[in-house]
Amino acid sequence: MKRDHRQTTLSTSDGVDDLQDINWTFEGTDTQYLTHGLHNYPARMVPEIPDTLLGYYKNQGVIEEGDLVYDPFSGSGTTAVEGRLHGLNAEGNDINPFAVMLSKAKAIPLERGSLSEARDALINGLSQDLRDVREEYDQLGEVDWLEMPEVRDGWFPEPQIHELTAIRDRIDSVEDAFGEAYARFFRIVLSHTTRKVSYQRNGEYKRYRLSEEDRVEHNPDVEPIFTKKLKQNMKKMQDYSNRVDHDLDTTIHYSDSRTAVEDVGENQADIVITSPPYGDHQTTVAYGQFSQDPALLTGKVTYDEMKDVDKTGLGGRYDVLEPVSNLEEYSPTLKTTLDTLREKDGRSDDALDFFRDYYAVMEQVAKITKTDQPVAWVVANRTMSRVNIPTHLITRELCESLEYEFDVNLPREIPTKTLPWENAPENVEGTKGNLMANENIVILRAP
Ligand SMILES: C[S@@+](CC[C@H](N)C(=O)[O-])C[C@H]1O[C@@H](n2cnc3c(N)ncnc32)[C@H](O)[C@@H]1O
Repeated sequence: MKRDHRQTTLSTSDGVDDLQDINWTFEGTDTQYLTHGLHNYPARMVPEIPDTLLGYYKNQGVIEEGDLVYDPFSGSGTTAVEGRLHGLNAEGNDINPFAVMLSKAKAIPLERGSLSEARDALINGLSQDLRDVREEYDQLGEVDWLEMPEVRDGWFPEPQIHELTAIRDRIDSVEDAFGEAYARFFRIVLSHTTRKVSYQRNGEYKRYRLSEEDRVEHNPDVEPIFTKKLKQNMKKMQDYSNRVDHDLDTTIHYSDSRTAVEDVGENQADIVITSPPYGDHQTTVAYGQFSQDPALLTGKVTYDEMKDVDKTGLGGRYDVLEPVSNLEEYSPTLKTTLDTLREKDGRSDDALDFFRDYYAVMEQVAKITKTDQPVAWVVANRTMSRVNIPTHLITRELCESLEYEFDVNLPREIPTKTLPWENAPENVEGTKGNLMANENIVILRAP
């Protein structure tokens, strides 16, 4: 049975003087509470982590209500949501436009009355609209107002894809009448529906298609999928909205955190809680592929914006910066790791690319964060070319070279299989199921 997170976590950090006394694995807790459950996202951070850290630092008087929490890798906005639940303003960056949309949809509360009115405007007449679309399709065999061949071809059953676009058009009208925030909330419901309706295999973070036989069988009913998720998300949003201060700010920049100071400014953040990507998006967690169809079909995001997300991610060989040549001097553990990879003819260049980019973000975060305030990096230790990469030690050493002061390392196990361990190319006998099964929360004080 799932435990109530509030009872678990508030009592977890309440009265605790040492973060090491907490069990950070949070096995069996509900990770979908309130708006955290609006939509899936790959490698989502367990919300109990920011919840517990924020509660702890508030108790310790290190942060207070009205302060700013920053996350350079916002993803689905877990830190931003928890920030607001703790009375903090939140800011973040992400290079995935879908992540930016999702973070805002989850963290910015909507007014109960307007939400119900907007929902009614969306739903009244929807059934008739969808019937009309199917009829038009039956008569013509196609619906010529559908543009977007990149999305459509081979990835969606028909006429369902036309029904999805009809819902999107209704959401566009809601946007005209009720504004962007309400429309965004419905776009997230449509995105969920899009994934269920498409030929994308469930439970995958990459763009894998159902087999040909399964595609023939796949004949989903669009409207009930949409309305069921809408009802669930409305309840989650209403509960969240009742709990939080609507006057706080949430700002998520659709831009690269390797240059985040330009967006956020210096000495702004009172605390940072983040989980960086693992590097190598194409082979580990493909954020862009995961988000592509939903993002395009829900509108507002173009194919050109989506197609490079996995290349622009950290370590993705998309050079924003000059290479840092002496990274290995800064971190002896990185040097040993790269030497081992070189000896084995492993992927040392890829690893170095990733850490070079990651280091750039550490530099930006050092500037963005007020001196002595906590910065928590939630990192997984992955394996590359059969070599374990001790990311937590490298994180610590690289940050220390930037004059962060190390505070504590909190190890945790990943209780559920949320990552494609078995599919990763480096996965070999002996490391099976263990590719990213451990995480560490590395906490330092900003310089
Ligand atoms: C591990 S996920 C973060 C998950 C997030 N903590 C959550 O709970 O949903 C890493 C995120 O970093 C983003 N990302 C990768 N490289 C980036 C960069 N250079 N700048 C900003 N965001 C980046 C990815 O798009 C992805 O959303």
